[in-house]
Amino acid sequence: MYILGIETSCDETAASIIKTNQKTGKITVLSNIISSQIEIHKKYGGVVPEIAAREHVLNILPVIDESLKTAKIDHKKLDLIAVTKGPGLITSLITGMETVRTLSFAWEIPVLEINHVEGHIYSNFISPKTKIKFPAVIMTVSGGHTNLVVMNEDKKIKIVGETLDDAAGEAYDKGAKMMNLGYPGGPIISKMAEEFTGTSDIVLPRPMINSKNLDFSFSGLKTALLYQLQKDKSWKNRITEYCFVYQQAIIDILVSKTIKAAKKYGAKSVLLSGGVSANRELRGNLEKAVKDKLTGVNFLVPEMIYTTDNATMIATAAAFKIKNKKTVSFNKLKVDPSLQLK
Ligand code: KG4
Ligand code: ZN
Repeated sequence: MYILGIETSCDETAASIIKTNQKTGKITVLSNIISSQIEIHKKYGGVVPEIAAREHVLNILPVIDESLKTAKIDHKKLDLIAVTKGPGLITSLITGMETVRTLSFAWEIPVLEINHVEGHIYSNFISPKTKIKFPAVIMTVSGGHTNLVVMNEDKKIKIVGETLDDAAGEAYDKGAKMMNLGYPGGPIISKMAEEFTGTSDIVLPRPMINSKNLDFSFSGLKTALLYQLQKDKSWKNRITEYCFVYQQAIIDILVSKTIKAAKKYGAKSVLLSGGVSANRELRGNLEKAVKDKLTGVNFLVPEMIYTTDNATMIATAAAFKIKNKKTVSFNKLKVDPSLQLK
């Protein structure tokens, strides 16, 4: 099967073409085109929905065109279009969905609607370096979502933990904003944290780290950072140190809850996904914890290019879901900005 994936839920306009072998399950990525709007939103300190939507309108057709050219195939070869239904910014989602509605009608190709968070989960299935054994515990950490799911052999998922307030990526972004570091905060804080080599006496809390459940909360940590900065007159001279301790607090919480979930559900694999999974320290800390605290459990992270928003993960989710999920006719396609994982 040849699948065209389309992703426009936030500020990345993305199209990808994958070839799947339904017998072996092998996925070959023929193109993965991403047009990022980060440079445009940077000056506003975050994504401006209206601007994002207008940029998607300008970019979507050239991006799809480039994905076909790079894949060296004609659209007539496509068997399926996979598009992000939600969750995300409504005006951003609509540009992708309306484009897909037109293409589906004109090219007579069926469409599968995909949940964006499920897309992130499937980013680990694109070219797995190690076998994914089930049950798998999957931690998705992005700018809009932070949750833990358990996936069984039949690929059914169950949410076992989620954030009660901010997402982990949001904690990075808001922390960076407080320290005037720019947007998006994750890569900036991560880079500055790497520059700090000493030991620190700054103490930040790890909210809910010892709670019995598998839920998260990051807003208290963000407020603790704010109070700490207000108290410390010389904080501007200690930015790398603040980045280091703030990042470590986020990572400690994420690692601890993931290990707890893996133990509770007898996971045979632990998978990390979402924009924050690009963080090298998090990848390293979780890999080490899986090795030290669990036995015989495989650890997987997506290739860097598939950590933040992309359309290959959407097409890949469709490749696995096509067996059990109905395609939607062009006139029934509909976005859902608050779509839940099921
Ligand atoms: O998955 P994604 O592209 O979009 C959403 O679905 O939200 O994730 C974007 C988030 C942002 O919050 C960004 O700061 C964070 O991922 N991020 C990182 C890193 N790269 C991106 N966070 C920590 N370390 C990174 N290296
Ligand atoms: Zn995302």
